[in-house]
Amino acid sequence: MSVNPKLEQWTRRQTLRGAGGTAALLATAPLSACYDPRATARQTSRSLAIPPLERGSTIGGERRFDLTLQKGEKAFGGAGTRLSPTVGINAPYLGPTLELRRGEKVRFNVRNKLDESATLHWHGFELPAAADGGPHQLIRPGELWTPAFEVRQRASLYWYHSHMHRRTGPQVYAWLAAPIYVRDEEEDRLDLPNEYGVDDIPLVVQDRIVEDNGSLIYPAGMHARMMGVSGERIFVNGTPDPVFEATTGLLRLRLLNASNARFYNFFLDGDKPMEVIASDGGLLDRPQRMRSVSLAPGERAQLLVNLSDGSPVRLRASSPGNGMGMMGGMGGMMDRSRTGASGGDFTILDILPTSGSTKMRRIPAMLAKLQAPDPALAVRTRRFTLNMGMGMMGRFTINGEEMDMRVINENVPVNQWEIWEIGNTSMMAHPFHIHNVQFRIIDRNGRQPPPTEAGFKDTVVVSPSERVRLLLRFEKYTDPDLPYMYHCHILEHEDAGMMGQFVVTK
Ligand code: C2O
Ligand code: CU
Ligand code: CU
Repeated sequence: MSVNPKLEQWTRRQTLRGAGGTAALLATAPLSACYDPRATARQTSRSLAIPPLERGSTIGGERRFDLTLQKGEKAFGGAGTRLSPTVGINAPYLGPTLELRRGEKVRFNVRNKLDESATLHWHGFELPAAADGGPHQLIRPGELWTPAFEVRQRASLYWYHSHMHRRTGPQVYAWLAAPIYVRDEEEDRLDLPNEYGVDDIPLVVQDRIVEDNGSLIYPAGMHARMMGVSGERIFVNGTPDPVFEATTGLLRLRLLNASNARFYNFFLDGDKPMEVIASDGGLLDRPQRMRSVSLAPGERAQLLVNLSDGSPVRLRASSPGNGMGMMGGMGGMMDRSRTGASGGDFTILDILPTSGSTKMRRIPAMLAKLQAPDPALAVRTRRFTLNMGMGMMGRFTINGEEMDMRVINENVPVNQWEIWEIGNTSMMAHPFHIHNVQFRIIDRNGRQPPPTEAGFKDTVVVSPSERVRLLLRFEKYTDPDLPYMYHCHILEHEDAGMMGQFVVTK
């Protein structure tokens, strides 16, 4: 395999640094800085970057996108101005927001201009296995990959990112990820904020380790592998300490946890309520008034924030510790204690209403028609147990097996309802993600999921000793040879083997 010399340099330095250096970094850098939120963000580096909206071009009834995986460099702040190597899509880091419509055919020309192989996966989409962009759809340096599929998804926020075998963690950390908007008629009929970059804002939330001299560090070593890589600096759409100047009375925030390992519990300063309107795969049946919303890596949520009183709003988050002495696992996610292993609350985004419209728009009372998932539909149950072996080698397994590119772990007949029951015998919570499907959560340890998890999902947190039952069906595509993936979306766990393969067959 050829390797980007810069990325390799980067990796080598981390290896030398080891886990001790990383721990020191984490201990010294506070997550939140003090500043006056009313200080204007205009023309400063704190203005929230909004990824450009890319609609592609329509040719012969197909919407086409030209996407290039390319190298870049970016200064990530700190005391220095050191440039760090990055990877982006049509950009030095991250990439455009792709706008798709349900029902249309799309085709992508994905060119790899990196010095290493990569893949590009469409997270949350139902599509032919050959178009999935998982570890089998390798794009070698200089190669072109041209997947095509029909957009069958409900309107929501999805995303695309690297899924390179054993390299997803470092490649996504190097910023190879970006949002996808799917729109549809069901949602168009509702009066929801939908003006991209104005009142409908993607928030790609990521954490990074930045050295004092400004360079970005991806730590190697046992601790990073076990816990996943968490940074002490938060970036939203690549912007540190971002500020957004809002011009409308109602703001729609589309949150994507694109971090490698960090879990977030998002809330508004001052305990302001927010309306949660969508989960991973689309609108909930009705808005849910919440004080906080939790997202594990890979998960999304959409919120409406009321700015009609004209005062600044601060989106904040806490991060629960995950595993090792944090008993109770992600059950603890809901509490905002400042005593978690990873420190207290921190700021995600400052929202400054500017003069102009502060008129409040009515929020629709009903959003989507969702039937309750009916487990009686299922013709079989498959069981999956997530485990982490302890000790030096730390095996990461599903049903006792590590990911093996040559092994098909499950054969799933097309168009049959199944229950997938996910258990967790490890001491960490794992966000379990399944390709090619939007599923429903039947229950968690026999109890109904909370309302914000009652819609369509493609990633679900499974806490230690929890048993989560999912109802799902692969409706359309079959391929006896090419598999899809299911895996933990803590990217270092995925890379370490907590992933399996399934084929969908006739
Ligand atoms: Cu978001 Cu299999 O990935
Ligand atoms: Cu996926
Ligand atoms: Cu995991």
